[in-house]
Amino acid sequence: MDKLRIKGGKPLEGRIRISGAKNSALPAMAASLLTAEQVTLENIPFVNDIYTTRRLLRELGASVEFEDDHVVRLHAQKILSHEAPYDLVKTMRASVLVLGPLLARTGRARVSLPGGCAIGARPINLHIKGLEKMGATVRTEHGYVEATVDRLAGAEIVFDKITVTGTENLMMAATLAEGETVLQNAACEPEVVDIAEMLKDMGAKIQGAGTPTMSIRGVAELKGTTHRIIPDRIEAGTFLVAGAITKGELEIIDSNPGHLTSVVEKLREAGANIETGVGRMKIRGEANLKAADVVTKEYPGFATDMQAQSMALMTQAEGTSVITEDIFENRFMHASELMRMGANIRIDGSRAIVTGKTRLSGATVIASDLRASASLVLAALVAEGSTLIDRVYHLDRGYEKIEEKLQSVGADIERIK
Ligand code: EPU
Repeated sequence: MDKLRIKGGKPLEGRIRISGAKNSALPAMAASLLTAEQVTLENIPFVNDIYTTRRLLRELGASVEFEDDHVVRLHAQKILSHEAPYDLVKTMRASVLVLGPLLARTGRARVSLPGGCAIGARPINLHIKGLEKMGATVRTEHGYVEATVDRLAGAEIVFDKITVTGTENLMMAATLAEGETVLQNAACEPEVVDIAEMLKDMGAKIQGAGTPTMSIRGVAELKGTTHRIIPDRIEAGTFLVAGAITKGELEIIDSNPGHLTSVVEKLREAGANIETGVGRMKIRGEANLKAADVVTKEYPGFATDMQAQSMALMTQAEGTSVITEDIFENRFMHASELMRMGANIRIDGSRAIVTGKTRLSGATVIASDLRASASLVLAALVAEGSTLIDRVYHLDRGYEKIEEKLQSVGADIERIK
């Protein structure tokens, strides 16, 4: 298994280009199952979750061809299998995104239940409840969800809790249902809007994406399209923190600052100097960072996917920061590794109390999930001496060539095979 070795202490300077959003690319690839025509996706990040999705879609009978320059051509002319097997779902829970499209297109889907993961229990009960409301018969047996239906029917669905992939799954399913579906308490994340735009180009009738109430009028069939994936706001946010924590000067290009308002505001509150322009941001880290409280919320609130990175930053801020995780029940696994590097953090239920500024020193650390790994990279960039980060495969699931991007702005980082 690959490791990363990072020697801390260098301010990062230069320009970093942001890749396409993983969490848009995954549902966009699943959406290609809704049509017998070819779908071309541009700005696909070449990260491991995308390769896992390629394997999954090929097992279902789709052809998936990767081209240079982040283009993927998908063609699900015929669906040959209805099953997302345990092996794939266990490595990537976003595999459940094929449930809605498969059921809508063919009337049948069998998807392994994802089970818990490093950040919480993460059930899919709301995806299932919504499909049942649309007329599907759903059985859960032998660790699999099996859904069947003649044709899905439009329904009024109120989510008990806001769910991103739940909203995407039901939105995709509803595009081919008979009649109108209304989703209440829908997720408003930019990735949901991106998929809605793609589906509309394919002929879907969708209104209200990006608001809590969406309506989808089903059509008989969808056609192919070419769609460009939005920039990854979490990758951009991670590099903003890298600029702030190393007191460097970074220009982040091919990003969408409008998707990062909460993060930019929080970094400014902590003392970072950030300028935003069209498709770009520039951060200058200030000598003295100040403590700031963070509460994770659904979009447009502060993203839970930026929580771990903000914790690394607050270890370098003067004063006490309270970080409250409101989305997942168990997303503080990075705290104990940051403490091994010298951070002063106390966990109290869903709150982490971080007292700074503390001197961090390099250590051998292990990451438990994707964003936790990112927080350890950030801490290592300011730690004294050398940090060895184990289980880099977590990072490779969602950050494209992170070490090359960091090297290009002056970080002392190397991958050890
Ligand atoms: N929830 C339920 N029942 C459901 C679905 C969700 O109780 O049927 C709960 C979850 O357990 C959680 C909350 O609702 O407490 C929100 O979960 P959500 O469904 O929104 O998460 P997700 O769709 O599984 C996506 C991202 C995550 C990101 C979350 C929250 C993708 C592929 N994944 O997950 O991204 O953290 O939304 O914004 O879009 C990451 O990229 O590192 C990552 C984990």
